[in-house]
Amino acid sequence: MDQLSGKHIVLGLSGGVAAFKSAELCRRLIKAGATVQVVMTEAAQQFMTPVTMQALSGRPVYLSQWDAREHNNMPHINLSRDADAILIAPASADFIARLAQGRADELLSLLCLARPADRVPLLLAPAMNREMWAHPATQRNLGQVVDDGAHVLGVAHGDQACGEFGDGRMLEAEELTEELIAFLTPKSLAGQRLLITAGPTFEAIDPVRGITNLSSGKMGFAIARAAREAGAEVTLVAGPVHLPTPRGVARIDVQSAEDMRQAAVEHAQLADIFVATAAVADWRPAETAEHKIKKDGSGEVPHLAFVENPDILSEVAHSPRAQSGELFCVGFAAESQDLLANAQAKRARKGVPLLVGNIGPATFGKDDNALLLVDDEGASELPQASKRVLAQQLVAEIARRVSGLAA
Ligand code: CTP
Repeated sequence: MDQLSGKHIVLGLSGGVAAFKSAELCRRLIKAGATVQVVMTEAAQQFMTPVTMQALSGRPVYLSQWDAREHNNMPHINLSRDADAILIAPASADFIARLAQGRADELLSLLCLARPADRVPLLLAPAMNREMWAHPATQRNLGQVVDDGAHVLGVAHGDQACGEFGDGRMLEAEELTEELIAFLTPKSLAGQRLLITAGPTFEAIDPVRGITNLSSGKMGFAIARAAREAGAEVTLVAGPVHLPTPRGVARIDVQSAEDMRQAAVEHAQLADIFVATAAVADWRPAETAEHKIKKDGSGEVPHLAFVENPDILSEVAHSPRAQSGELFCVGFAAESQDLLANAQAKRARKGVPLLVGNIGPATFGKDDNALLLVDDEGASELPQASKRVLAQQLVAEIARRVSGLAA
């Protein structure tokens, strides 16, 4: 998917073992639609060759401030002028120290110093040993470069190339790509706290069995990610799903509808937007057996009685904060037919300003979907697209409505 389409990224490598991750990072940025210009310090070339980076980026790599290929012999000026961002990965302790001092005796630090700081952001992905990371000199330098306008991505905690364990690992290529996409996304939900439910619920029959459904949680997770990228502070209440938590999102794992209700009602008190995408089980067994229900050989089957689960969306949407307009609620409707009529009826029943309809069986577990947005002005379609793209479009629709309320 082309989430970085039209973006030009200067990828700078300074010296560190983590440079091996930068090859993958370069590949991912290009796959996401960016053009990538690689610049390497002398130390970086001890860890990764310019040949590899040229092959992956499809462009000659710049290594020296005296590069005569440039018509004016000023690569430090030319390379940054059309960049949407400069990302230094790995950013070594030495390189950060150079930035802090405003050094300009090699191409990469010179380029950072010469960038138009008001329109070309500088992002750093530090990578170093934990003692180097924790050293007051490094922390002092980092503080300085942040004061000077740089943004620091990471670091991660874990095993280090030197055999030690702690802070200082560079983020993985996938994480850095996500961070860069988030960084470059317009902040249409800045300052908003968004709460979202996602996935199925699991209603226990006994300690080994239960009732659930085929919801994968993908749509909800995609919305959580898109909302965070748009600047929202996101809390995701997730039923049992096998999906990684989107970066920067606070996740609360739950099993049953009752657990989900408790988490949602509690966090809704602090939220500005509530999006209910979860496929909450409508009913649960009236009783959960303490021990596994056994076959006794008689051929008799157990008879289960059910009770209705709480309607989380309806409860939150009818709360005083939602009714007063402080909390904007968005519902989903998974239907198998008559999408428009069912979605309109559900919107009225749940009491939400915006209801998003989709054909459930056609989308559960898939990566694509199509959505129908129903509000008091009527219905509009978000045509078939990946859940990622639909999530971004839906976040834009929510942002438009929320900012309309604030205006
Ligand atoms: N929902 C909820 N709690 C429930 C049931 C549904 O919060 N106990 C929310 C869903 O997250 C979704 C919306 O309500 O945003 C509609 O869910 P859906 O399953 O489509 O509808 P139901 O309310 O279950 O109605 P029906 O079974 O009649 O379609």
